[in-house]
Amino acid sequence: MHGDDQVAQWRELFPVTGHWTYLYAGSIHPCPKPVGDAMHAFIEKVENGGEAAWPGAFDAFGKLREAFARLIHTKARNIVVTESTSAAVSLASKLIAPKPGQNVVLNDLDFMTDSYPWLACHPGVEVRFVPSRAGKIVTADLMAQVDSKTAAIGLCAVTVGSGFRFDLNEVRAALGSRDIPLLVDGAQALGLVDIDVGSPKIEFLATTASKWLMGPAGVGFLYVDDRYLGAAPPSVGWLSAANVGDWDVRHIRLHDDALRFQGGMLNLVGVVGALAGLELVEQIGREAIERRVRDLTAYLLAGLEQIGVPIWTPRADRERAGIVFFRPKDPAALHAKLKARHIYCGHFLGGIRLDPNFYNTVEELDRFLAVVREHQAD
Ligand SMILES: Cc1ncc(COP(=O)(O)O)c(C=O)c1O
Repeated sequence: MHGDDQVAQWRELFPVTGHWTYLYAGSIHPCPKPVGDAMHAFIEKVENGGEAAWPGAFDAFGKLREAFARLIHTKARNIVVTESTSAAVSLASKLIAPKPGQNVVLNDLDFMTDSYPWLACHPGVEVRFVPSRAGKIVTADLMAQVDSKTAAIGLCAVTVGSGFRFDLNEVRAALGSRDIPLLVDGAQALGLVDIDVGSPKIEFLATTASKWLMGPAGVGFLYVDDRYLGAAPPSVGWLSAANVGDWDVRHIRLHDDALRFQGGMLNLVGVVGALAGLELVEQIGREAIERRVRDLTAYLLAGLEQIGVPIWTPRADRERAGIVFFRPKDPAALHAKLKARHIYCGHFLGGIRLDPNFYNTVEELDRFLAVVREHQAD
């Protein structure tokens, strides 16, 4: 584990640590001080200068695309800045544009973000769900649903409930030479797990700034593989056009990169904050964050196993990332007890979800485990 001094320094960046034992980083991440400072500074610029704040914000937008591209080992030209993961998945589904009679293969462990666009916006396309087993999706089960009419496979790199982490190499290898796009939801993975969109090849990667990337809500990202960059955008705005500066309302020349999928005015405060969040990930180091979170989640799993509560999260390090999900007796009552003791975590699907981040301490986890022990013994 990291030294106490290092952790104490990290905690100074997170005002939330003065109020809560916050164990829900994969939900709405508490705003780190540098992110809040960047957004406050930008708001002051808008208060005092209006449009004068635009050049700096547009510069931040460019830097944001670059920083996100660095994180996933690609180029800024492939990045669309969206409002959310949901908007990104929805856009990807429109670019994949399956025809009636085709199917898309999803799974039971997906979030609603990942199924709704297919269910609501693509009539005549069959949506198949691979059943999970003990909180995991087995690649052979997934492949059993894939056939010659499969237009796409959608999955969460790390699933929202059990926290199962897919082996993306294994999935891509199982597809062999079949040319089926992978649409990966990285909302519970990016910032922790290293995803390189070139290896294994991923055609679309959707996520939000507001979880493990420590940015504000209202900003998301979509990585779009080169082969889709020429596609007709499902919607456009003035940012989509390379000739917008001509003031020619009669003609549009779309950008030849992912900018063509942008719309109109950006969420500027969000862009500035999201950039500060990504810079913080770079400053702390994604690998250091992953290692620290792996240690903390392993500690939690061991503690919960000792208490004897049913755990949904797979145990192997390679099959999980930042989420620990367990099913105690009366989870609503336990959730209320935890909240009363200023311990913040999630409660859904009949259980409790914990997502510790690198600034959490072993003492905080011990405090949490003590409440669970007491609750189970009651
Ligand atoms: C895996 C996953 N995908 C998508 C979402 C929703 O993201 P957004 O609100 O950015 O659409 C969540 C939120 O919890 C999530 O965990």
